This record gives sequence, structure tokens and C-alpha cells, in this order.
Amino acid sequence: MNLKKTILITGGAGFIGSHLVRLYVNKYPDYKIINLDKLTYAGNLANLKDIEDKANYEFVKGDIVDADFIHDLFCKYEFDGVIHLAAESHVDRSITNPTEFIFTNIVGTTNLLNAAKFIWKENNKENLFYHVSTDEVYGSLGKTGFFVETTPYDPRSPYSASKASSDHLVRAYYHTFNLPVVISNCSNNYGSFQFPEKLIPLFINNIRENKPLPVYGKGENIRDWLYVEDHAIAIDTIYHNGKIGDTYNIGGHNEWTNIALIKVMCKEMDKRLGRKIGTSEKLITYVKDRAGHDLRYAIDSTKLQEELGWKPSLQFEEGIERTIGWYLENEDWLKNVTSGQYQKYYEEQYEKR
Ligand code: NAD
Ligand code: DAU
Repeated sequence: MNLKKTILITGGAGFIGSHLVRLYVNKYPDYKIINLDKLTYAGNLANLKDIEDKANYEFVKGDIVDADFIHDLFCKYEFDGVIHLAAESHVDRSITNPTEFIFTNIVGTTNLLNAAKFIWKENNKENLFYHVSTDEVYGSLGKTGFFVETTPYDPRSPYSASKASSDHLVRAYYHTFNLPVVISNCSNNYGSFQFPEKLIPLFINNIRENKPLPVYGKGENIRDWLYVEDHAIAIDTIYHNGKIGDTYNIGGHNEWTNIALIKVMCKEMDKRLGRKIGTSEKLITYVKDRAGHDLRYAIDSTKLQEELGWKPSLQFEEGIERTIGWYLENEDWLKNVTSGQYQKYYEEQYEKR
């Protein structure tokens, strides 16, 4: 096989990472894709079962916080490019244990930047360090307005503060060391293979099991939802056509209050499960608000649309139906994840080989 590029994708066993790995392995047979993942509670190799035996794919288990390991990995593979998604990603966990977020999101990103800087100064290949970030770095909007690429940073949770720090470091390595970088900041993703601690898969699972639906505060917070496969396509577009040193906002132009979104999900679940319409809504339970809960996120992705021609492919109504359908049809995946069984998958698949 004549491989044109070797690309490192970090966090490829997670939600968005697994969609990106699948896209790259299938779309670019002449790229070698190395998926580096620590397999924390959020990493699940079962997300990649359909591509794990492909010739252009390799999985490496490892921790981006381990600087020596990362350095050696870059020396071994001489990556042409890096797409960095590995992170602690759940806001609620960052409130109960901020330290883990500092290590993975800040120290881990710095280790990757240092290793890229080390190997890329010595060769002339076309290189790119692509850092995947979030709209949460911009803070919280009031009832109007949108985040644009120049909106000042105002992170308000330990998660968003750690992501903002990593964005600053990536830009600092561009300005100080000429490291070729690009950053994207995306809104809330939804779709298959999302760990059911996040709103949409958690609520699908709870409705299925007739458990309470814990709505934080009054459910009036607003998020801008994007189908995960559209995020993966946006990353691919930016990776190949984005301008070095630039930032691109990615979003769905699809704002929902949590409570309105939850009601749509309840109705669709009632239909699918053959329940009387209104049954699942009765599970809604208002609980104590998230500390420092950001009111509203909304992305203006005009730059990405006008400069690089990307736009979301899917209407939300179709995306949410498809997503609910996927979780109901993949009960085994959901059961494995909720029971913790999936953590045995790596052991069975790899350590005994
Ligand atoms: P996720 O939590 O589903 O996956 C994260 C992955 O990173 C997991 O596979 C985990 O095992 C791995 N990981 C964690 N710590 C690691 C470490 N120290 N070393 C190596 N691997 C490690 O997250 P996600 O929702 O897929 O998000 C991926 C990226 O996209 C994150 O950087 C996140 O900030 C960003 N993002 C997410 C969203 C969203 O809505 N989910 C939106 C915008 C941006
Ligand atoms: O905006 C992008 C971000 O979106 C990403 O950077 C994060 O990695 C990702 O987790 C997501 O963050 P949110 O905090 O917006 O997502 P979450 O699914 O945790 O919550 C969505 C909204 O639903 C939020 O307003 C909190 C609320 N919520 C969440 C949970 C888990 C509830 O009301 N009840 C819940 O049980």
C-alpha cells in the first residue's frame, strides 16, 4: 500500500472521535490512521468494530499526559498530521473533579504540541496540528447574539477553562514556534455512540427504562445542536482546506431550550415504544441547577460556510429521529455501556492477543 499520509487522531474511541476515525479510514484508504486513546470511561472500542480490521487503521492505547510516551510515539510514526480530540469532555464531571481536566486537556495538549514541534522541525512534509475545541470557551450568551471567531474568551466551568487554556497554547505555538495549527470551536453534538451521561443519550436511556428525566433548573438553557457526522465532515473540510493559523466556528444554527428538546424526544419515544403520547413527559423531574450553568450557546458559522463551503447536511427533525432509532436498535451497545461491560472489550480484543 502506498500511504500518502500518516495521521494521528487522539480520542478516536470517544463519541466524535469514533465518527471521525470511521470517516477517515473509509474515505482515505491511502492514509494511515493511528487512533490514540487512553480508553477512559468515555472511550469504547466497540464504537469502531466495523473498521477495526481495515489495513489503514491502527489503535494505540496510551495517555496524552505521559510526555515520554507521546514523544516516543511521534518519533516512531513521524505523523504528517494530528487531529486532537482526546479530552475530558463532561461539564458535570469537571465540577466534581476539575484536576483531571487540567491534566488531560492542558498538559496533554501541551505534550502533543511539544512532540509535533520536535519532529516537524526536522522534515519538510506538509504538516498540520488540528485542535478540536468547543463553543463553551466563549462563555454564555444572553437571549440574542452569536459566537463568532473573534468573540473574546470567557470560559466559566473548569471544563471550558481547560479547553480555553489548550486553545491559547495551540495559538501560542503557532505564533512563537511557527507550528502549523488550525482550531475549530463547535456547538453541542448529538448522534450515535455518545456516552449516556450527556443529555440526549441519557434521556433516551431513561425514557426506555421509565426512569426520571433530571432537568437542571427550569430547563430554559439553550444549546445549538449539530449532528455528529456533520461535525466530522466539517473537521475533514477544515483539515484539508482550512487556513493555517485560523479558527473556524462550527454549529448547527439549531437552537433549542432543553425543555423543548426533551419534549420532542419524549413524543418521539412514545411513538417508537408504542406508548400513549404524553406518557414519557411524566418522567420529567426538575432538579437542582448545574453550578454556573451557561444560559445560551449559539454559533455563527458563516466563515466556514462562505470560505470553505461547509454546511450542515441534516435537518434536526431527521437527525433526532435517526439518533433515537439508533439507540433503540442498538440496545446491546447501550446495555454494555451502562453496565460497564464495554471496559472488558479492550482486554478481550487486544490484551489476550
Ligand atoms: P468523549 O468524552 O466522548 O471522548 C473523549 C475521548 O478521549 C475518549 O475516548 C477518552 O478515552 C479519550 N481520552 C480522555 N483522556 C485521555 C487521555 N489522557 N489520553 C488519551 N485519550 C484520552 O468526548 P467527545 O464528546 O467525543 O469530544 C471530543 C472532543 O470534541 C473534545 O475535545 C471536546 O472538547 C470536543 N467537543 C465536543 C463537543 C460535544 O458536543 N460532545 C462539542 C464541541 C467540541
Ligand atoms: O457546547 C459544546 C459542549 O456541549 C461540549 O464542549 C461538551 O463536551 C459537551 O458535553 C456539551 O456540553 P453541555 O454541558 O452543553 O452538554 P450536556 O449534554 O451535559 O448538557 C446539555 C444541556 O442539558 C445543558 O444545558 C445541561 C442540561 N442537562 C444535562 C444533563 C446531563 C440537564 O438538564 N440534565 C442532565 O441530566
